[in-house]
Parts: sequence; C-alpha cells; structure tokens
Amino acid sequence: MTHMALEVKESLEERCNQMLRNMEASLTARDRVGIQDFVLLDAYTSESAFLDNLRKRFHENLIYTYVGTLLVTVNPYKEFDIYSKKQMDTYMGVNFFELPPHIYALADNVFRTMLSEFNNHFILISGESGAGKTEASKKILQFYAVSCPNTKLLNNVRDRLLLSNPVLEAFGNAKTLKNDNSSRFGKYMDIQFDHQGGAVGGHILSYLLEKSRVVHQNHGERNFHIFYELVEGGEEELLRWLGLERNCQKYRYLVQGDCAKVSSINDKSDWKMVRRALSVIKFSESDIEHLFGIIASVLHLGNIKFEADARGYASLNNNNQEMHWVSKLLGIPSQVLQQGLTHRKIEAKTEEVFSPFSVDHAVYARDALAKAIYGRTFNWLVNKINESLVNKDSSRKTVIGLLDIYGFEVFYVNSFEQFCINYCNEKLQQLFIQLTLKSEQEEYEMEGIEWEPVPFFNNKIICDLVEEKHRGIISLLDEECLRPGEATDLTFLEKMEETIGGHPHFVTHKLADQKTRKTMDRGDFRLLHYAGEVTYCVVGFLDKNNDLLYRNGKEVMRQSKNAIIKHCFPSSEPDSKRRPETVATQFKSSLVGLTEILMSKEPWYVRCIKPNEAKQPGRFDDVLVRHQVKYLGLMEHLRVRRAGFAYRRKYEIFLQRYKALCPDTWPNWKGTAAEGVRCLIKHLGYKPDEYKMGRTKIFIRHPRTLFATEDTFQVCKHKLATRIQAKYKGYRVKGDYLKQKEAATKIETCWRGLLARKERDKRAWAVKVIKKFIKGFMTRNQPACVDNSEYLAYVRHNYLTRLRDNLPKTVLEKDSWLTPPPIMQELSQLLKKLYIRLMVRKYIRGITPQRKAQLLLKAQTSYMFKGKKENYSFSVCRPFMDTRINGEDISAKVLQMIRHEHIKYSVPVVKYDRNGFRPRLRQLIFTQEAAYLVEEAKIKQRIDYISLKGVSVSNLSDNFLILHVTCDDNKKKGDLVLQCDYLFEGLTKLSLIANKQTCIKVVQGSVRFDIQPGREGFVDFKSGQESMVYRAKNGHLMVESTRTKSR
Ligand SMILES: Nc1ncnc2c1ncn2[C@@H]1O[C@H](COP(=O)(O)OP(=O)(O)OP(=O)(O)O)[C@@H](O)[C@H]1O
Ligand SMILES: [Mg+2]
Repeated sequence: MTHMALEVKESLEERCNQMLRNMEASLTARDRVGIQDFVLLDAYTSESAFLDNLRKRFHENLIYTYVGTLLVTVNPYKEFDIYSKKQMDTYMGVNFFELPPHIYALADNVFRTMLSEFNNHFILISGESGAGKTEASKKILQFYAVSCPNTKLLNNVRDRLLLSNPVLEAFGNAKTLKNDNSSRFGKYMDIQFDHQGGAVGGHILSYLLEKSRVVHQNHGERNFHIFYELVEGGEEELLRWLGLERNCQKYRYLVQGDCAKVSSINDKSDWKMVRRALSVIKFSESDIEHLFGIIASVLHLGNIKFEADARGYASLNNNNQEMHWVSKLLGIPSQVLQQGLTHRKIEAKTEEVFSPFSVDHAVYARDALAKAIYGRTFNWLVNKINESLVNKDSSRKTVIGLLDIYGFEVFYVNSFEQFCINYCNEKLQQLFIQLTLKSEQEEYEMEGIEWEPVPFFNNKIICDLVEEKHRGIISLLDEECLRPGEATDLTFLEKMEETIGGHPHFVTHKLADQKTRKTMDRGDFRLLHYAGEVTYCVVGFLDKNNDLLYRNGKEVMRQSKNAIIKHCFPSSEPDSKRRPETVATQFKSSLVGLTEILMSKEPWYVRCIKPNEAKQPGRFDDVLVRHQVKYLGLMEHLRVRRAGFAYRRKYEIFLQRYKALCPDTWPNWKGTAAEGVRCLIKHLGYKPDEYKMGRTKIFIRHPRTLFATEDTFQVCKHKLATRIQAKYKGYRVKGDYLKQKEAATKIETCWRGLLARKERDKRAWAVKVIKKFIKGFMTRNQPACVDNSEYLAYVRHNYLTRLRDNLPKTVLEKDSWLTPPPIMQELSQLLKKLYIRLMVRKYIRGITPQRKAQLLLKAQTSYMFKGKKENYSFSVCRPFMDTRINGEDISAKVLQMIRHEHIKYSVPVVKYDRNGFRPRLRQLIFTQEAAYLVEEAKIKQRIDYISLKGVSVSNLSDNFLILHVTCDDNKKKGDLVLQCDYLFEGLTKLSLIANKQTCIKVVQGSVRFDIQPGREGFVDFKSGQESMVYRAKNGHLMVESTRTKSR
C-alpha cells in the first residue's frame, strides 16, 4: 500500500477521461437499471417503487444506491472487482454525483469535507446481522489507508488501525445462524486526522458484548472465533503450556452449537493473522501469554463439573485437573478457587459466612465467572488497542467516526438483547431525524428558501417509553431487579402493565384486544417501534439485566497473578454493598455518551441490506428486503430528503453540465453562475413552481424536470461532441501551424542576424584592411614601419605572384619582364638576371651538337650580314643544311674527279653568262680546297680558294653573289655572277671552308667584275616594284629586287 501514493500521480487527463466515461456509463445506467439516487424517484412515497429500483439494480450487480448523501448497499454475497486500487483512484477527489454510487465516493466525500471545513464527522453504518456493516466499515478504512498521505509514522498508525480489526473480530465476532462472522458487539471507531489529512490516531468504543455466547451457543452457532483459532491454530508448545488439546470437541463451551468446524472459516490462518496483528499493535509477549492464559482458563472453567455431596451441595474434587489448570493459568491458589466456585459469601451483621451452592447454583456461578472474565478481558483488549492508537500530539485534530452497530433485530423470539439493540436503533433514528431535519432546515435557511415543514414520525415518544426516569421500561426493570422480595420476569411484566399500560406504543397479552392477543403469548410485551412492531418475551430479562457475579467470585479474581485479570478486577471496585449498575442502565448511559459524541459531528449514513437469509448471491427476497427497508427507516429518510425539492445542485455544477442547452450560456457564460442558470432554465422553459433559486444552489422540485433536462442534454451531447472535436482539431492544427510559423520566423531572424553580423564583421574588417592599405600606400616610400609593413609585404607578394605567372617564356622575351614597384627595383634586377641566366642555362643545356654547329654558322652569317643586307633577317629562321644537293644528284664523273678534295657543301645556283648575262643552272660545290661550278658531268670552272679574291653581294634583298677571282692569264675564266636561293647559307659555308670571312663584301649600287682580265662588267642593284633581272641598256646586268621591310 505504501507505493500507492506514487500511483496516485496518474495523469490528470486520464482521470478526466475516465470520469467522463464513468459519467457516461452512470447516466445510461440510469435508463437501464433504475436510478442511482432514490431522491429522484418520482413515486418517492411508494415502498414498492423503492423496492423495484433496488431489485433492478441488484440484479445488474449495482449494489449501491443513494438517498441523497445516504448510501444504501445490498449485500451481494459475492466478490466483485469494485474495490481495487484503481477504483479507489477513480473515486479520489471526484464530485459525489459524478460517478456511480460507491462506498468510496461517500468515504472520499466525508474525508474532503472534513479537510476543507475542518470539522468532525461520523459514518453510521447500520443494518441487520449479515447485511454487510462490518465489511462496509472495513472498505472505508481501507480507502483511507490508501488515500491518506503516508509517512513512516503515519503508516504505523494506519497499520494498527487496519490490524485492530482482525483482533477485535477474533475476540468479538462469532458464527451465528445469520452470519459466519457476526460482530457480537457494537463498535464505534474514531480515526483522527491532522490538518493535512494524515491518519494520526484512533480510538475505539465497544458496546454491549454478547457475553452469554461464552457459555452458551444456539444450535448451528459458535463461540467467539478466538477459542477455535487457539485450539486449531495454536502452536504445540503453547497448547501444552495452556493445558489444551487440539480438539474443540473436548470443550463444553465450544460444542453446544454443534458446529465447531465451518467451511467458510479457516481458524488456522486466522490464528496466524491474529498473532501478527497483536505484535503490530505492540502487545508484549507477557500480555499475549496472559491473554491466552485467560482464553484457555475459560475453556477449562467450562469443563469443570460439580458433583453433589451427601447434602446435595456442589462439590469439587481436589484433584480436578481442569480446576488446577484454571488455578495455574490465572495464578489463583486452587483452594481459593475451589472455595469460590462452590460457595458464596453472605454477610451477616458482623461476620461473613460461606454458604455452599447447590449444583445448579455452582454451574450458574461458574458460567457467570466465565462471562465476567471474558467480558472484562474484551474491554481490556479494546483499551490496550486504544493505547497503541493514541495520538500523542496535542494539536487539534479532526475526526471521522465509524459506527458499526447492530441494526433493528426482530427474531421469532426476542429477548433482552433485542430489546437493548432496538432501543439503540430508536436512539440512532432520533439522532438521524434531528440531524437531518436540522441540516435540511439549515440548508434552506442558508440558501434563503422558505422552509416547508416536513411531516415525519418523531420517535421520541418511543425513546421516552424505554428510557424515561421512573416510568420508562428500563427504570421499571431496574426497580424489579433491585427490590427486595421475590421479583421475577412476570412481576416485571405486571409492573409494566401497571405503569405504562396505557401507552400507545406498548401492549401486552393482557392489554391487547382480541385480535392482537392471538399473536402474543402471556409472557410477551410488544413495542411499536418507529420501524414496526416487535414482540419481546420477558423471560430472562431480570437475570440478564442483573448480570450478577457473586461477590465471592470477584474476590477470588482479585487474588489472580495474571496481570490482565488483576487489571480487570481491581480492588478499588465498589463492593457488593452497593449494587453495580444494571446492564440496561449501563447500556443506556453508554448510548447517552454515544449520542453526545455523534451530536457534535456531521452525520453520514450507510444502510446495509441483506437480500436473502441463505447468504446466496443473486437472490433478492422481496419480503425480507421490504422488511429491512422499513426497519432501516429508508422511506422515512427519503421523505425527509424529498420534503421540498428532489434535486439541488450548486449553480456552478448545474451550469457546467447543462450550459450546452442554451446558446447564451454555451460555450462560456460571462456572468455569475446563478445568472447563467437563470438564463439556462428560462431557455429550457422551467415553470416557476418547478424550481427555486437559492443563494448558491438551484432547487428542482420534481425529478421529471431534471430527467427531461438530462434527456435533452443526451441528445445534444453527441452533436456537441462532434463540434467540439472539430473545433479542437482545428485549434490543434492552428496551434501547430502558429508554432511552426513562430519557429520559422525565429529561425529566419536568427539566420538574418547571423548573416548581418557576418556582413558587419566583414565590412569592419574590410574598412580596417582598406585603411591599412591606404596608409600603407601613403607611406610606401618611407622606410619600413608599422604602417606600411603589411602594405609592402602585400606589394611584394603581389608582385612576386604576378611575376611568377608572367615570366618570359624564352630568352628572346626578356624585355617583357614585369615592371617592378619601386621597392622591388633592386630585387627585380637581381631576379631578372638570375632568371635570364637560368633560361640561358636551360637553353644551352637543351642544345644538341648539331644545333650548336648550326648556331655557330648562323652567328657567322649574322656577323657577316646583319644590318648590311636587306633580306638577311629572312634567313635567320631558315635552318642551314649540310648540303643542298644529295651525293647521288652530283654526276659520278664529277665526283670521281673531286672526291679526294672532300666535298663539303653543294648548292644549286644560276650562273649568268659574262657576256649576254644569260642564266644557266649549275651546281656549286665546295671542297676542302676549291669551289667548283659544275654543269652536269662537266666541271665548268674550278676556283682555288687561294685565287678567290673576294665575294660581293648587294645590300638589297636579291640573291646575287659575285665571286672575284685572280686572273693572271687570259685562259682563265673571269669572275662569276651567280644567283643562289641559299645565298646566306652558301656564303657562310664558303667563308668557313675557305676561311674567307673578311673577303665577303656587301656593296651598294653596283659591283664591278672582271669578265676577262682587262675586261670589266657591271652588275647594278636597285630596289623596284618587283624582282627582275635583265640586261640594262648600258650593258650592265640590272638586278631589281623588291624592298623588304627589315624585321
Ligand atoms: N460488499 C460486499 N461484497 C461482498 N460480500 C459482502 C459484502 N458485504 C458483505 N459481504 C458478505 O456478507 C458477509 C457478512 O457481512 P458482515 O460481517 O459485514 O455483516 P454485518 O452486517 O457486520 O453483520 P453482523 O451484524 O452480524 O456483524 C461477509 O462475511 C461477506 O461474505
Ligand atoms: Mg459485523
């Protein structure tokens, strides 16, 4: 149970859902199985209608029904799953009328009212034997155990409160014909709560224990459970110590009903439970020892048999085993006990005399002793439990009292006990009437509604009949008991006839009319109780009222060493000189006490009904139930509750439930709840006499008005549900949408912020950089300092990077070197130098020997012609070849002739005749020693290099060359005028082969040459529109060449 508090934290939503579901269920249940509240019964004065409703619900397993705040329960005689922890949770903190009727609803309401109003309450549970009072009180107690706040300390109290039940039931309950666990005493239990609702203490009052059961049981009944539990369940050692055998049949006090064993009762397990409970309630081992010593001694006492001595007096054998066990267990010397059991003390004037008992007397005295011992031990037990429940904290506490008390009892033969019980019920009924009428009246007054007097039967007249001083039945009984002389039950009857004979609620055989007399015996008297007539048999009244223990018996007990007995028979107890109060008077005073206790508290009622006598589930005995409905005063209660208005509810609650029925109040009413209700009922068309408006509540006179409203609501509800659903869905989607939108805006804002911040930082950085740049720029020509260091580094870096990307590709491009910034001048020069060197180096490394030779040739050519001859530049790019005529193109004959001189180079040329200047194709071949002009297989002219005087070429772009030779004789041919396409190549080769670098001349205008020795010719050079060679009129060879632009 300790973890229950945790579970109580179920989500509120689930609770609400469940509540709604249950509300729904209960409302449909109204249609299906009667009504949940008798107050709403239209025919509220009809007992049959009442019964019908009860029956209908009972057959649907609905055992609880309200009469306003009173709870009627019908014993189902079977277990349902309606007392689970889950059910408790459901009912916790929920409005009384929102869930189907339940004992938990009542318990919860009492608890919450107590907490909020900080006042005291009691729940009166009444009903016939076997109707379920004790079960109901246990359910309430369990509910509190679970629902109250718990701490370790509180749990102690809670456990003791819970476990006091099995102990009291073991000692105070017994199997009867009506109930296998019948409480044979009345019980009032106070549970004390602190201001937070924690159970902090308790107190128990017990009423009128049926002691006679200790010595006598009717057929089919048993003694108190504890005897059987001890004999059946007690440990071997304990039984041995108590002198008991494990056999109930051995004990006279246990077998009179002839049913020591009952299938529905498990004495062994109950014994264990009691033992455990006793230790939790803090009974010491010695207490327990003494307690069971007493129980055992009662059993031994019952087995003591008296024998008649010669004079007919009772005698006891000295060796009587049973007596010795009693003596041992109670710690009383056996002689004293023996004397006490067989004699009575009579006080003469000055001395005390022991007078022997007859056997019958002795038996009577023994039984009286057994009853007294048990009865007083029971009281001790209750006190002991109370000690363990006592709350030591003196701060103010509120209290919920649970009164589990016998209801009206009507048997075939009714005796003194029934008289007391029914008197008790009369008192409680009176209390009920007073409290209910009072509270009704107070409510009307509080609500400002005029009080309409309620016709009801006031049973004060019956209470007076029983309890009035001097004239009441109890007074008359006491008088008969106490008066000297031969008083008997019959003289008591006569006395009553004499004194109260004319009372309208009292009748005896003698006083009755003819018809009534037939239903009574001579020794009977009949009382017309508020609940009905009960006929009592007067036999035994005096005896039971006296309940006398012979004086000697008490004295014997006072010598006991057993601590409990010692406590129960104190030496301070008044002696026999003053007679103790009679049973009826004691009971009367205890009822006065109880009434006082109850009067100061707010009442709540649970009325238990037994559906059949056979303890069978599902059987509803109409006659039996009708009888109880009457005796429990339910019709009376209903009448009072329905006196004015059948239904009343706080405006807020009423409006909350029905506001959907009026467009003005739905969905929200802005004004006060009372105005809302007024508007609502106007819309619903309530007639003025159907309702009254109180200060805080609406009062509706007839249930049908409410039902009509409820039915309209049921119809409207479904439409409403769909609308609410749609609205809610819309609301949720809208909510989601808004949330998403909000989230998007948030993200957007954040993102924009981020970007803006980035941008701002970037700009700030840029500004800084630009500023620095400008400053750097401005101070760029100053020596390196903080201001320009970065700028200069940047300039350097920038220049170097650019330089890297724009380096000249070849040495020839060296002039394309990137112009350096001023600070880099020097470095740039150095780099340029280095780089050119590097390129040159690379270039040189990349040159082949052939190419080198070629270049040397080209260099030679350049040396000779560069800047001198116009078409030189065109030759630069044309590579020189080793020869322009392959060996096979030279005539073999020629080769034959000049091979020995090693041919170095050969080239085709055009030779112009010296006379007439006709062009002829020839081969010019250079050998090691001479140049040969060859025409096919003929060597036309050999020019020894020694005889080669010089070579002339023009400065223009023609390809003419004139070889000047020394001509000593006329046989020799003169100078040669040639045109060669490979002029530069040929002349370079010639200059190198013949070592004639210096004798090659570039001339302007015209060249004189020797046609023969002594005969000269001229070649004139000029530039013209087109290249032409022709013989000019002056006899000169005219070479015209196009002007070429030098590159
Ligand atoms: N709510 C219930 N659900 C199931 N069974 C119940 C319920 N109430 C009572 N009973 C059954 O009825 C029996 C008698 O109930 P209980 O002992 O409470 O009666 P009682 O009114 O206290 O009688 P008495 O006046 O003799 O003490 C129980 O032992 C149990 O079997
Ligand atoms: Mg009971």
